[in-house]
Amino acid sequence: MSDSGKRVLLGVTGGIAAYKSCELVRLLGREGARVRVVLTESATRFVTPLTFQALSGNPVRVDLFDEAHESAMGHIELARWAEQLVVAPATADFIARLAHGHADDLLTTLCLASEAPLLIAPAMNHRMWLHPATRENVALLESRGVEFVGPEAGEQACGESGPGRMSEPEEILGRILSGPGLFAGRRVMVTAGPTREPLDPVRYLSNRSSGKMGFALAHAFAREGAEVTLVTGPVSLPTPAGVQRVDVETALEMREAVLDAVSGQDLFVGCAAVADYRPERREDTKIKKSSDILELRMRRNPDILAEVAALPDGPFTVGFAAETGGLLQYARRKLEVKGVDMIAANRVGEGAGFEVDQNALEVIWKGGRQSLPFQDKATLAQRLVELIASVEGKD
Ligand code: PMT
Repeated sequence: MSDSGKRVLLGVTGGIAAYKSCELVRLLGREGARVRVVLTESATRFVTPLTFQALSGNPVRVDLFDEAHESAMGHIELARWAEQLVVAPATADFIARLAHGHADDLLTTLCLASEAPLLIAPAMNHRMWLHPATRENVALLESRGVEFVGPEAGEQACGESGPGRMSEPEEILGRILSGPGLFAGRRVMVTAGPTREPLDPVRYLSNRSSGKMGFALAHAFAREGAEVTLVTGPVSLPTPAGVQRVDVETALEMREAVLDAVSGQDLFVGCAAVADYRPERREDTKIKKSSDILELRMRRNPDILAEVAALPDGPFTVGFAAETGGLLQYARRKLEVKGVDMIAANRVGEGAGFEVDQNALEVIWKGGRQSLPFQDKATLAQRLVELIASVEGKD
């Protein structure tokens, strides 16, 4: 990496992962970045300002009303100085205060006063990370263009296990110094979520897809600089920052939305759990209970992925395969039968694949195969995007 001289303002908040930020400062210095560190009051209980001062070679600030520091470089000047803001680790409390526009300490004030891009590396107990309040605060910040790296799943300092560990300093460094992104200037279409196939005005057939995997992919592509169109079935997830979203309900509507916008796309990723069949008839009025057995006649839905793959001059196509068994065998068949460039296969059922926050993938393409181990869907999506970039580039 060669982004030497980048002016990085590192905020450290009060969590046990603060010790890892010392290594981040060291790595940034090694890359030639100029680093200034701001600690919150509670961060000073974990690592002293002196440690960061020694590592960064610059005075460290904690207090908004510090007269000596303000006369040397005022906080507004510091906000202007920064080319990149990074907060690592970021606690749930810091994320909440930032999401709601508080400026009650030096770090939140700097985040509001600076126009530099902001990267946040959260670290907290997994229940706090998964709490609806934190989820909403993160979504709100993402919708304003704030980027997140991690957290990773694994064993935590509190002895529990789950998503909440701060990403490793090397990964945060990579995100700080990365260039325009693996898919800069490229157009990517992603499908996500389930489809709903109506039986009558109040009932439908559907599946357990939450949209989490597809939304994580759309987010990862956008972060890598792609212009992303996300065609999604009904889910309750916020739209990732910078992504253009098209909402649909049925498989036929999804097909229409995809075919309408697929021309000019460089890449198509079919992550949606599209219903293979739809009820042959949609009753105009609610179906009444008239007998013990109700027979439904179903009609096969068109295969959107296979249609996109068959387009002349179509995009590089990546399909998913959701299997309860025979993962690789069925994935290989899908690769061939659907004529796609790559298949990402996942095991589903009994708490796997659908709905949950973690997943694992077996990815196959004509010339190779790679296992992406069990991890949170955001990190897994990033890994899949990197793999697609390396395979598609050679195609
Ligand atoms: O949404 P989550 O809760 O996060 O769960 C993620 C997931 C399990 C839904 C996701 O990882 C996944 O596996 N998505 C594909 C689900 C699926 O429908 O798999 P399939 O094996 O039935 O279909 C194979 C491929 O063909 C898929 O790319 C699918 O989008 C596509 N397809 C299927 C049927 C159809 N009529 N048209 C299609 O395009």
